[in-house]
Amino acid sequence: MKKIGILHGKENTFPEAFVERVNSKNIKNVVAERVLVDELAQGNPSPYAVIIDRISQDVPFYRAYLKNAALNGTAVINNPFWWSADEKFFNNCLSTKIGLPVPRTFLLPSKEMPPDTSAQSFRNLKYPLDWEKMVEDLGGFPLFMKPHSGGGWKNVYKVDNFDELFAAYNETNDLVMLLQEAIEFDAYFRCYCLGGKYVRMMDYEPRNPHHLRYVADHNVSKELREQMHELVLRINHALGYDFNTVEFAVREGIPYAIDFCNPAPDADVHSVGEENFEWVVENAANMAIEKALSHKEGGNNLTWGTFVQGSVQGMMPGLPAETGEKTGKSKK
Ligand SMILES: Nc1ncnc2c1ncn2[C@@H]1O[C@H](COP(=O)(O)OP(=O)(O)O)[C@@H](O)[C@H]1O
Ligand SMILES: [Mg+2]
Repeated sequence: MKKIGILHGKENTFPEAFVERVNSKNIKNVVAERVLVDELAQGNPSPYAVIIDRISQDVPFYRAYLKNAALNGTAVINNPFWWSADEKFFNNCLSTKIGLPVPRTFLLPSKEMPPDTSAQSFRNLKYPLDWEKMVEDLGGFPLFMKPHSGGGWKNVYKVDNFDELFAAYNETNDLVMLLQEAIEFDAYFRCYCLGGKYVRMMDYEPRNPHHLRYVADHNVSKELREQMHELVLRINHALGYDFNTVEFAVREGIPYAIDFCNPAPDADVHSVGEENFEWVVENAANMAIEKALSHKEGGNNLTWGTFVQGSVQGMMPGLPAETGEKTGKSKK
C-alpha cells in the first residue's frame, strides 16, 4: 500500500478536498489521509510514500520531521532541503542566469543587527551604503522593499521617495530586505505549477481587495500567455519545486517574475474561487498519485532542481552541458 499524506496547519478546504479526491479515484494500493505525526526517533521511516507539505515554513519541528521522512524514501512535496535553503534574492539571482525577466533588485543588510552581534560583526560591510546610487540603478522611485525571505504580503512596502524609504527601512528590525524596481504593470498573473508540468494561469489583480483579487480577465495575447507558460516551467525546473506559484507583472509586453518562491501557495476556495480550486485539487491529486505509483521504497524520491543537479556536476546555470565551464576543479 502506498500512503499519501497531507501535512497542514489552520488551512481548510484544500486539505480535505485533496484527500477526498485522491481516494475517490480508487487507485489500487493508493490511499490518502491527513498525516499523523508519531513520536519521532531518529532514522525511523515514515509510513508515507508521499507527503504534501503545506505548513513546515511555520513549524520547524515539521521541517525536521520531513527531512527524516525524505531520508527514508518519502517523496516530500516540496523538497524540504531545498525549501530550507531557498530565498527570494537567490531566486532572482538565478533568474538572471536563465533568462527569466525579473525587476532590478539590491539586497539590503538588516536595519538592526541580528541578536548577539555587534558592530564588530559587520567589519566586512561597507558603511554607509550608497543609497542614492542604488536608487538610481533601480531607475528611481517608486520602489518596493520586501523581505528576502517572506510571504503573505508581510513587511511589503511601496515607497515613493527617500523619506518613505527610510521610514519603511526603520520598521524592518533585523529582517534582510530586498530593494526592488516597482513594475508598473498592465496585467498581473498568478500561475500554479504542479509536478513540474501542470500549469494554471490565473488572471489576478493585486490592487483589488483580497476577496476580489482573482476576479480579473486580462486582455493579453496568446503569445504572451504561451511565453509565461514556458517561463513558469523553466523556473520551477531550475528550482525543483513540485508545488509552487509564480507571479508575473506585465509591463510593456514583458512578463516580470515578481514572486515565485511560494512552496505552500494559497489554495483556499474562498480566495482562488471555485474553478481554480477545482483545478488545484484535481491536478494535485493526480500529481500525488503519480508520485505514489513511481515511488521507490527507501530511495531518494525528492525532486531536485536543475540548479542543484548542475552544481553537483560542476555546471553553472544557463550554460549548455557540452560547452559549460566547470566550476569545480577536476583531478587530472
Ligand atoms: N517589484 C514589484 N513591482 C510591482 N509590484 C510588486 C513588486 N513586488 C511586490 N509587488 C506587489 O506586492 C505584492 C506582495 O509582494 P510579494 O513579492 O508577492 O510578497 P509575498 O511573498 O509576501 O506575497 C505582490 O503581489 C505585488 O502586487
Ligand atoms: Mg506574493
